Amino acid sequence: MVKIRKISLGEFPLILAPMEDITNHAFRILCKKYGADVLYSEFIASDALVRNIPKSLEKTIFDNHERPFGIQIFGNDPAVMAEAAMIVESFCPDFIDLNFGCPVKKVVAKGGGAALLNDIPKMLKITEAVVKAVQIPVTIKTRLGWDEKNKPIVELAEKLQDSGAAAIAIHARTKAQMYGGKSDWTLIGEVKKNQNMKIPVFGNGDIDSPEMAIEMKNKFGIDGLMIGRATIGNPFIFNQIKNFMNKGILIKEQPLKIRVEACKELLLNTIITHGERKGILLLRKHYTNFFKGINNFKPTRMKLVTSTSVNEIIDLLDEIEKKFNSSYLTE
Ligand SMILES: Cc1cc2nc3c(=O)[nH]c(=O)nc-3n(C[C@H](O)[C@H](O)[C@H](O)COP(=O)(O)O)c2cc1C
Repeated sequence: MVKIRKISLGEFPLILAPMEDITNHAFRILCKKYGADVLYSEFIASDALVRNIPKSLEKTIFDNHERPFGIQIFGNDPAVMAEAAMIVESFCPDFIDLNFGCPVKKVVAKGGGAALLNDIPKMLKITEAVVKAVQIPVTIKTRLGWDEKNKPIVELAEKLQDSGAAAIAIHARTKAQMYGGKSDWTLIGEVKKNQNMKIPVFGNGDIDSPEMAIEMKNKFGIDGLMIGRATIGNPFIFNQIKNFMNKGILIKEQPLKIRVEACKELLLNTIITHGERKGILLLRKHYTNFFKGINNFKPTRMKLVTSTSVNEIIDLLDEIEKKFNSSYLTE
């Protein structure tokens, strides 16, 4: 049984990776329904939490059904991160995650996220300050290192553990790679081989099929898998992996009816939490994957991503089910 301190995550947890504008409450509950074992919030700026910015506070909202659930924060100042962590702890998530891996400019320019891969002493100071400030477990999400010449993850993971981290998720890329190229899991395997490592190590990067999930599990001995982009418009991937791992059953595609239903559920739940305008915008990121593999789908997709009316989108989704059911292709 894999545990973050006393919290049981299952035998081999499949974890929904934190993703800004994707892993909101509505998407998380859909992923949970289709087999995700652990959920994280989107990342939240520590300074915004400390300043009580409503938009940031909203991102901390979750319900008990989502547990085990972690709220992720980012920032550069140990004292501010510790204060933000205390605020987060008051909402009672199961753990707090520290983002030391985000490569985007707006975060790195302020010394947060992956910038801390260039300042390991500060990263450890932040970890220690947060661990000291809260009672609940503190976990880490990071990358292999800053660039090809600087990949300290094997020593770094141990240092983070010694600083009090209760688990670590590693995206198998450097900051310089951003999201490009191919992830290289070799060093994640090395982290697992380090006999001093006692905390769970989760592997992340490019998992997009049950076959790849099993390959990475067997090859690198990780304690669980974290999946990001392949879940967008495809929350089914968690159960697909579980079916393959546990029963040897390979389900490549979900029936169109289930895809349409899941898409509608996501749309309506997103609108409940974000309002109609924002909810419609957020759903646009999901349509391509929800309806992958359908012949001549482009004109319908264009209508979906340009519509500004929820009723029209629901009509389009009903139409998809009727119109494409027979022409739907399975690989
Ligand atoms: C749209 C998007 C938003 C992301 N936002 C976050 C975030 O808020 N926090 C974080 O730690 N990583 C974030 N990531 C990185 C993912 O969690 C994950 O590490 C990365 O996508 C690699 O995993 P994958 O290949 O399975 O997608 C984001 C990635 C994407 C594509």
